Amino acid sequence: MVAEQDCILKMNNIHKSFGGLKALDGVDLDLRCGEVLGLVGDNAAGKSTLMKILTGFYHADMGSISLDGKKVNIDNPKVSKRLGIEMVYQDLELCQNMNVSENLFLGREVIRDPVFKFLKRKQMEKKSVEILRKLKIDIKQPRKRVDKLSGGQQQAVAIGKAVSFDPKMLVLDEPTANLALKEIGKVLDIVLQLKENGIPAIFISHRLDDVFQVCDRILVLRGGRLATVKKISETNHDEIVRYMFLGLGEEEPQGG
Ligand SMILES: Nc1ncnc2c1ncn2[C@@H]1O[C@H](COP(=O)(O)OP(=O)(O)OP(=O)(O)O)[C@@H](O)[C@H]1O
Ligand SMILES: [Mg+2]
Repeated sequence: MVAEQDCILKMNNIHKSFGGLKALDGVDLDLRCGEVLGLVGDNAAGKSTLMKILTGFYHADMGSISLDGKKVNIDNPKVSKRLGIEMVYQDLELCQNMNVSENLFLGREVIRDPVFKFLKRKQMEKKSVEILRKLKIDIKQPRKRVDKLSGGQQQAVAIGKAVSFDPKMLVLDEPTANLALKEIGKVLDIVLQLKENGIPAIFISHRLDDVFQVCDRILVLRGGRLATVKKISETNHDEIVRYMFLGLGEEEPQGG
């Protein structure tokens, strides 16, 4: 049994249908202080739907969400952001033709004079380097255009941007998909750095090797249902694959 105060987030008995299709069927998820929770499952298992309910893009048909032990009503993405939930989407949502610093501060530029709207460019650039350095992200040129960065560096900027909002928790959607092998390690280092900074995260991935490297626990969805939750130290790759595909133990309580 996990003490209520150890959980940042609790999603309870979440149901969601699209027409006749049951995408989520009574799913529970909890995220604990300082952990990275892997969220895995085959295509169409319901991972994105569950996270879109958390970020206010979809409404659950049934179920509840609590943050820091208080029930919350996440009606729309703005509410989710205000509550301190940041999500880094797979397509990253960075402006390719703007530089690193402009992307980090997009929409909340530091303004010196509200009348002339003269941007304190230097200040934003300095702050950008600081934000990235906190996560040990090695981008020293805040004026570099995002489309000139590698895929891994772009992922790093997107995570840095999310962290700059000082979130309570992060959701990372397939952060290592479509990256060259040598870049994957760097992104995983950033995820570990989040832990060092005390920011808990949900890590959605198809790459089980990556999940085993950075996560503390792993939650498996299968066909819209919770197949299992395991401590990483108490399971292995083969067992998780069986939970994902072969219908092992349908409804175990959240363990660990
Ligand atoms: N807006 C929608 N309208 C209709 N059906 C949807 C919608 N969003 C998701 N679904 C369906 O819900 C089910 C769960 O989809 P979801 O995208 O959550 O799966 P996933 O685990 O994220 O899969 P993937 O690994 O492919 O990203 C699928 O059958 C999907 O087709
Ligand atoms: Mg998905």
